[in-house]
Amino acid sequence: MDDRRGVRQGDARRRQPHDDQTPHEFPPKSTLDPSKYGDHTSTITEAHIGKSLEGLTVEQALADNRLYIVDQHDNLMPFLVDINNLDGSFVYATRTLLFRRGDGTLAPVAIELSSPLIQGDLTTAKSTVYTPHHAGVEGWIWQLAKAYASVNDYGWHQLISHWLNTHAVMEPFVIATNRQLSVTHPVYKLLHPHYRDTMNINARARGLLINAGGVIEMTVFPRKHAMPMSSMVYKNWNFTEQALPDDLIKRGMAVEDPSSPHKVRLLIEDYPYAADGLEVWHAIEQWVTEYLTIYYPDDGVLQGDVELQAWWKEVREVGHGDLKDAAWWPKMHTVAELIKACATIIWTGSALHAAVNFGQYPYSGYHPNKPSASRRPMPVPGSEEYALLERDPEKAFILTITNQFQALVGISLMEILSKHSSDEVYLGQHETPAWTSDAKAQEAFRRFGARLEGIEKQVVAMNGDPRLKNRTGPAKFPYMLLYPNTSDHTGQAEGLTARGIPNSISI
Ligand SMILES: [Fe+2]
Repeated sequence: MDDRRGVRQGDARRRQPHDDQTPHEFPPKSTLDPSKYGDHTSTITEAHIGKSLEGLTVEQALADNRLYIVDQHDNLMPFLVDINNLDGSFVYATRTLLFRRGDGTLAPVAIELSSPLIQGDLTTAKSTVYTPHHAGVEGWIWQLAKAYASVNDYGWHQLISHWLNTHAVMEPFVIATNRQLSVTHPVYKLLHPHYRDTMNINARARGLLINAGGVIEMTVFPRKHAMPMSSMVYKNWNFTEQALPDDLIKRGMAVEDPSSPHKVRLLIEDYPYAADGLEVWHAIEQWVTEYLTIYYPDDGVLQGDVELQAWWKEVREVGHGDLKDAAWWPKMHTVAELIKACATIIWTGSALHAAVNFGQYPYSGYHPNKPSASRRPMPVPGSEEYALLERDPEKAFILTITNQFQALVGISLMEILSKHSSDEVYLGQHETPAWTSDAKAQEAFRRFGARLEGIEKQVVAMNGDPRLKNRTGPAKFPYMLLYPNTSDHTGQAEGLTARGIPNSISI
């Protein structure tokens, strides 16, 4: 497992055990319905992790915000009976505990692998906890435990972080904007560049990737259960939590702090996605504020804007109709609500998508490091599989992870998705320089571009700072996914560059 990525990645469900302010959060709890699932509390104990906490007790580590979790247990457990009944499939629901070491890097300290155990009417769990070992057969058992956890992460990333949370949720905004706002409407002009090619790529995805029997079902472990899983997760999607500061706070990666520049303070200071992301979020928010307040000097103007109100009604009641009764939808009565909503839409189509899309091949293109599927259980002592692990561990490892066909198709897809096109329009750039005749709007847009170019310099400088170890990691691969690339107008940034924030979701 790539620990750096585990933390940087924006939207996998990561819960910090200290979230609810009580030490009773350890061991991690489950939110699965006890009447169907029984008790799914984690079986990780202090005895498993105590030796890895640099002398701290679990309670001290929690109090100091040093313990983090990648918790996929509840997400996957409801699907595991069906997934593990598929030919050539054996997947665990995993929980990975990570400790923030003194040098600011995260280390996995325990991995719990759980499979469903039917007891009467209940689907309970059979769980085993693995801890770090670095040599011999125990070292290979630990490698396998990390591989099973990575499989969960791979599937969640592709189906939820990428497809659901960017591509799919954006569509209702694209459609409602085109149906309800005139092309001369200021909000249409603001959002239109961030929809470029999105309907196109989603249509192609429906034809080739997420369709029944398509590439995603071929290569990502839930296979034919992939779309039902994505649909289930959508039921808990919340538009207001897509704003980066809200997302970081929800996941326990940041706390509100009025004295910090962006009003939130990161609990892991050297968290590249969040550090760069907050700069970009802030630049987007500032630009949207400067632009919209030209046209909406007060809330009354906004409330009387018939097109705008019809737009928002369609987004809520038709596009995201399954969630239309959710209490969290902004009412769209104030300019502040419009600013936050537009900043969130632009963030989702630009920076969030760039962060989860363009690093897929560089970070996940080598399956021994990031497998997309697992085919058989962890070997137990005394079994034939365990004997093979002792005799020929690499063969045992390869027989466990993604098979050859899945790997060929899956890695090819990763490569295509991770490429920037030659005609990319990056954040802060405009396809049509004369997109508005309003000089104030043009000036605000130029300021936005200048701020983004400033962020480019900051990103490069931080990547050169040896104290920030998570920005390059053991592989010495600098984090550039949120380097805006606004300053580049040459068109030479195409290909597998792993850098740059296009305006829209187009791949
Ligand atoms: Fe994408």
